[in-house]
Amino acid sequence: MAGSKNTQVLFASRPQGAPTAANFRIVETPIPEPGPGEMLLRTVYLGLDPVIRLRMNEGSYWPAFEIGKPLGARTVCVVVKSNNTGFDPGDLLVMQGIWADYMISDGKAAVSAVNTQAANLPKIDPSRGSITAPLHILGITGFTAYVGLIEIGQPKHGETVVVSGASGAVGSVAGQMAKLKGCRVVGIAGGARKCDFVTNELGLDHAVDYKRSDFAAALKAACPNGVDIYFDNVGGDILDDVLARLARGARIIICGAISQYNNTTPVQGPKNYLSLLVNRARMEGMVVFDYADRYHVAIAEMAAYLKDGRMKSREDVVEGIDTFPEALTRLFTGENFGKLVLKVSD
Ligand SMILES: NC(=O)c1ccc[n+]([C@@H]2O[C@H](COP(=O)([O-])OP(=O)(O)OC[C@H]3O[C@@H](n4cnc5c(N)ncnc54)[C@H](OP(=O)(O)O)[C@@H]3O)[C@@H](O)[C@H]2O)c1
Repeated sequence: MAGSKNTQVLFASRPQGAPTAANFRIVETPIPEPGPGEMLLRTVYLGLDPVIRLRMNEGSYWPAFEIGKPLGARTVCVVVKSNNTGFDPGDLLVMQGIWADYMISDGKAAVSAVNTQAANLPKIDPSRGSITAPLHILGITGFTAYVGLIEIGQPKHGETVVVSGASGAVGSVAGQMAKLKGCRVVGIAGGARKCDFVTNELGLDHAVDYKRSDFAAALKAACPNGVDIYFDNVGGDILDDVLARLARGARIIICGAISQYNNTTPVQGPKNYLSLLVNRARMEGMVVFDYADRYHVAIAEMAAYLKDGRMKSREDVVEGIDTFPEALTRLFTGENFGKLVLKVSD
């Protein structure tokens, strides 16, 4: 937990395969002082997103982390000292921050996924949900599910939608959103506990456990009329199994491929891609940044669903900035159950 020093996680080298402690350096520096117009922020929560792993490589859709610099992440911060008239001590902010106990800000949000021009950092409205909700369902994660399903999937009432990573941060929102649009929804998840959550808590129609040896047969049984929309978070063999079950005119949303992020060999491509031809289907990659103009409308819709109970979200909280990189690894082993967030301070 934050103390009299500023603990920071620096990026030391690009991992080959799964990140290890050798790829990072934890340093302690004095707590910085804000200058004119600046403020000192203390990190309360960090969002642990799979994109953190992608940014350790060069050539992904976000700028790669620079060697020797702190890692970046979505953060919830509290203002400790302010020389900026727009912010007071105690204000809670959500921002693209760094892996550190403390940071200095001029109060401007970096131009990014949801801020296409310089604007003041958004303050968190606690009446909309937990203070961590802007790191997932009421933030980029939830918005990713929303635009992937609505803009690319274009769901129609009665269609069969399959979502992988269905118990996770993006997948749980995509699955519930598809239900709200009147679809029949099948979630793919690892293990009985997560499958139970997908049907009994999130309210999806079926859950299929991809760790079972009869996965392909179980998927076929769950989708007797084929798959109209596949929201893919994981790639790999599961993508191939779903390709084999497409309905005519299917849409596949390539949101992510977490099964491939720690590969030391080339990414596994889909063997069954000719199913796109046979079924006149479409497979489309999406990057959430491209839809920034719809962000605030979508988040307001999701906040309403969250408030009236039509949508649920689950968090998995780990504590301590020095638990890195083990905490991040949980995303790739499936040890996280819900949106993984790191509590850094009270
Ligand atoms: N395109 C975009 O703009 C964008 C934006 C945000 C996120 N994303 C992508 O969205 C996906 C989900 O991210 P998230 O934050 O919601 O993570 P998450 O689903 O909360 O956590 C990751 C989950 O992935 C599953 N998983 C891990 N390795 C797997 C494997 N080898 N095979 C099958 N499942 C595996 C695990 O669930 P199980 O226990 O069920 O295996 C794990 O809990 C990621 O691919 C991420 O890169 C894309």
